[in-house]
Amino acid sequence: MRIEPVPALVAHVAVPGDKSISHRAVLIGAVCEGATGISGFGRSADTEATIAAVRALGVEVVEEDVDVLRVLGVGLEGLRQPDAPIDCGNAGTLMRLLTGLVAGQEGRFELVGDESLSARPMERVAEPLRRMGATVDTTDGHAPVVVEGGAALSAIDYELPVPSAQVKSAVLLAGVQADGRTTVAEPMPTRDHTERLLERSGAPVTRRPTSVTVERGRGELQLTEIEIAGDISSAAPFLVAAAIVPGSAVTVHGVGLNPRRAGLLDVLERMGARIAIYNRRSIGGEPAGDVELRASELVGATVAAAEVPTLVDELPLLAVAACHARGDTVVHGASELRYKESNRLDAIVEELRRIGGHARSTSDGFRIRGVPARLRGGVVDSRGDHRLAMLGAVAGVASREGVELRGGEAVETSFPGFFEVLEQVAPGAVHYPAAS
Ligand code: S3P
Repeated sequence: MRIEPVPALVAHVAVPGDKSISHRAVLIGAVCEGATGISGFGRSADTEATIAAVRALGVEVVEEDVDVLRVLGVGLEGLRQPDAPIDCGNAGTLMRLLTGLVAGQEGRFELVGDESLSARPMERVAEPLRRMGATVDTTDGHAPVVVEGGAALSAIDYELPVPSAQVKSAVLLAGVQADGRTTVAEPMPTRDHTERLLERSGAPVTRRPTSVTVERGRGELQLTEIEIAGDISSAAPFLVAAAIVPGSAVTVHGVGLNPRRAGLLDVLERMGARIAIYNRRSIGGEPAGDVELRASELVGATVAAAEVPTLVDELPLLAVAACHARGDTVVHGASELRYKESNRLDAIVEELRRIGGHARSTSDGFRIRGVPARLRGGVVDSRGDHRLAMLGAVAGVASREGVELRGGEAVETSFPGFFEVLEQVAPGAVHYPAAS
């Protein structure tokens, strides 16, 4: 497909519900007592895999609308052994959180994934769960992951060796089934949706700035109703495009603004972006608001390692903004990007260079020399990674010559309607190949 440049982006839009929270609402809802009504569910290939996974574990999920679900929870000990391996598709969050959730359940659980997911590290969740007494086998550190559940789990104190909300969440989900108090300490704050939802569902949760403790308590969770705010990671492409295309003004309504997720806005602000947030409110226990971004001249910025978890999925888009900003942008402490749906560190640098960006990788991140002018354009390959497809699309609307985007359908992983919303924000930008 081709993404053509547009003169300016002017629009008010909404984006689907947060993917991280959508996974968690279904997984935690599955082990609650009684029904959990979920509204604002972010439907995508990843989150549909989560619905299918809990169904395979004996949980009924009623799809009342595209974004409204009712999960009929079976209780903390009620999941049943599936008849076949559970296919997590492309979803790392599903595979890692589910490993923690089934670690204390009776039965054998085999989790498989697509080629990309099967190349991602899984020992990072298996290792702490084994310390809790679970039997978890990986295949040379990767999927398939096999959990032989049933043993009583015991609490651990665990320090995350890598900043990862998925690993933290896997340990916490096993922790609410274990005897004793499980504490996870994290060197840098990562997204805290699991602890927020567990707290909301009645589990004893103690939160400190750099650690979180959970315990089983009464052994009964209950969520009842949960509303999910728009995904800041899905709002990000439109906000970044508005920041760099002169004359633009885009407002994304009802976006989650959890401080552990909203680092992109902080960095863009440092770069000189004009950001306003209206109607600050709480949605499903998470801070949220309407985010307006108006184009302005940007300058380069430095992103410190401690900040990376707050914008980890937005770094490909930040890199596009950096190409358009005057001066250097340097991102430190981003080695984890190598283990995402693709090797995003290499991909960001290589794909941006192909379309005229001055990017190079460093030992633990990347450096971009920006020029306050449109990128040339050319070919961008998503490498099957949704965040890179979005990078290509944003670069396309902001470019001089447009972008031929290969593998654009990868957006389905997190945001199936992405190109429709892009066309709303940037009319005339999206061109599909003629049907043969
Ligand atoms: C996620 C955590 C992050 C993020 C991913 C979603 C989550 O991964 O990149 O897209 O929902 O917990 P890591 O935990 O591997 O950093």
